[in-house]
Amino acid sequence: MDNLTDKIRELAQAKNAVILAHYYTEGEVQDVADFVGDSLALAQKAAATDADIIVMCGVHFMGETCKILCPSKTVLIPDLAATCSLAESCPADEFAAFVQQHPDHKVISYVNTSAATKAVTDVVVTSSNARQIVESFPADQPLIFGPDRNLGNYINSVTGRDMLLWDGACHVHSRFSLPSLVALKQEHPDAKVLVHPECPAPIVHLADKVGSTAALLKYAVSCESTEFLVVTESGILHEMQRQAPHKTFIPVPPEVSEGERIAGVTCHCNECNYMRLITLQKVYDCLLHMTPIVEVDPTIAERAVLPIQRMLDISAALHL
Ligand code: 13P
Ligand code: SF4
Repeated sequence: MDNLTDKIRELAQAKNAVILAHYYTEGEVQDVADFVGDSLALAQKAAATDADIIVMCGVHFMGETCKILCPSKTVLIPDLAATCSLAESCPADEFAAFVQQHPDHKVISYVNTSAATKAVTDVVVTSSNARQIVESFPADQPLIFGPDRNLGNYINSVTGRDMLLWDGACHVHSRFSLPSLVALKQEHPDAKVLVHPECPAPIVHLADKVGSTAALLKYAVSCESTEFLVVTESGILHEMQRQAPHKTFIPVPPEVSEGERIAGVTCHCNECNYMRLITLQKVYDCLLHMTPIVEVDPTIAERAVLPIQRMLDISAALHL
C-alpha cells in the first residue's frame, strides 16, 4: 500500500484513532479526516469521541482543548509549531493581571487562547456561539472579552454591550484588503460577501453573512446565490467547492505592503501559515510514531476545563 491517505486511514483504524481537522488545513488533510469542522464542532466531537487517540489537524490551542476535555486520551498534533497569532497576542500572565484589575467583571475568552489564559476565564466562546453566550449574561453584568478586538467589537455592536476588550488580533484576518474587496464587489455585483468576525469592522460592514467557518459554509451552500467573495482563510474554499461544485468562490486577497509590492513578493497572507504546517506526511508520521503529543499542565487543565465545559453546556442547551 503506497498511498499516504490509505496508510493513514489504516493506521487510524488499527490504533482506534479519530482524525479531526479544521477547515483551514490543506484540502488533502481535510480529506483524510474522520471529521472536519469549526472550532466549536471540533471541541464537541473531541468531547464525545470513544477513540483512544485524537489526532488534531489544526493549531495548538485546538489540541489543548481536546486534551483538557479528554485527559485520559492521547492527543497528537502533527506539528507542535502550529500555533496561533491570536492566541499568542494574549499572554496568560498579562491577561491574568488585566482580569485582576477588574474584579467586578466576568471574563469571556475566545477559544483561540492558551490553556493558561482559559484558566483565568469564566466562559469560553467560539465565533459560533459568542453572541448567544454574551447575551446569556444579565445586561448590567460588566464583561471582559479577550483576546480578539475585532470579534469583541463585532459582538459589542450586535448585542449593544460595552465589553472591555483585550487588544489582540489574528494576523490573517486583520490583513484582508478593503480596497480589493470593494473592487471585487464592483466586478461581481451579484456576489454575496462572506466574512469571518475576526476581520476589522470596515470589512464586516460590507458582509452579507458574518459567521464562523461552519456558518459561512452553511450559508454559501444553502442560499440561492451562485457567486461569493470569501473573506476568511482560503482553506475553507476546499469544503465550499466540494459541497457546492456548481458555485463560484472567490478568495479576497490580503493587503500587500509597499515593500512586498516593490520586491515583487507573492503574498499568501490569506493562508494561515500555522494551519498550513499540517501536512499529510506529518499526519502519517505522528500517528506512526505517536509524537508530538499535546500536554497540558494538570493544575491548569483542572481550571481550564470549567469555562470550556460551560461553553459546551450552554451550546447544548441552545442547540448550537
Ligand atoms: P472558526 O471557529 O470559525 O472555525 O474559526 C477558527 C479560527 O481560527 C478562525 O481564525
Ligand atoms: Fe489563529 Fe488566525 Fe490561524 Fe485562525 S487564522 S488559527 S486565528 S492565526
